[in-house]
Amino acid sequence: MNRTAMRKYSGLAMLLHWLIAVLVIVAWRISEAAEEAARADREAIMANHFAIGVILFVLVAVRLVWRQVSPPPASADHAPWERTLAKAVHFAFYGLLLAMPIAGWVAISSFGEPIGVFGLFTVPALPVGIDEARGEAIFELHGTAGIALLVLIAVHALAALKHTIVDKDGTLLRMLPFGAVRG
Ligand code: HEM
Ligand code: HEM
Repeated sequence: MNRTAMRKYSGLAMLLHWLIAVLVIVAWRISEAAEEAARADREAIMANHFAIGVILFVLVAVRLVWRQVSPPPASADHAPWERTLAKAVHFAFYGLLLAMPIAGWVAISSFGEPIGVFGLFTVPALPVGIDEARGEAIFELHGTAGIALLVLIAVHALAALKHTIVDKDGTLLRMLPFGAVRG
């Protein structure tokens, strides 16, 4: 492997990163659209959010397995605190992206409802017993976790752009299939 290749994520890691990023934003915008929609339309709109949540869970699981097979490139040449912060944010992303769909699954199961995934397949309700108050409470926590996720995304994207545009160190190119990373 040449030096440039060693400084970049693998092609599959890049593909999964951008696919997951786009789907997280789409899932969020759908939940916002549902909130603004008429009550009668909300369920049908949110069904898309649930289905994307299931797909995200699978993509993140694949990403984490692939991360073991093909580990990330050596850390960029940043200050130790920056590297620690970046790692903590990445760890929090994976934690939230696994915990949020599982919480959603437990919550919707508390209403006795399965999750349909665009008519392709159905994720059955977990045998947790019907308890709508518990379902509501978990969805509430899920919503709060969603806000935390959005804050982290803003921090993460701004950090990546700062390194790329201000420091001109090519950080963004580590996650893109073109361009040489400096150093
Ligand atoms: C929903 C949005 C996003 C999520 C959940 C997300 C998540 C992640 C995660 C988990 C990693 C670590 C990858 C690993 O080591 O396995 C990562 C790396 C990275 N992300 Fe994002 N990301 C998002 C959006 C963005 C955006 C908008 C940008 C660019 C502006 C970006 C740029 C990068 C870059 C450059 C890296 C590589 C960092 C390094 O040098 O190690 N990401 N992202
Ligand atoms: C990785 C997967 C998922 C992500 C990233 C995600 C993200 C989000 C975000 C950002 C919000 C909006 C929070 C707000 O603005 O208040 C939200 C709300 C919601 N999500 Fe998800 N979600 C995921 C999976 C799921 C699943 C699988 C379900 C159900 C089966 C679900 C059910 C809901 C519900 C019911 C709300 C409205 C919560 C409320 O505020 O009461 N989500 N989600």
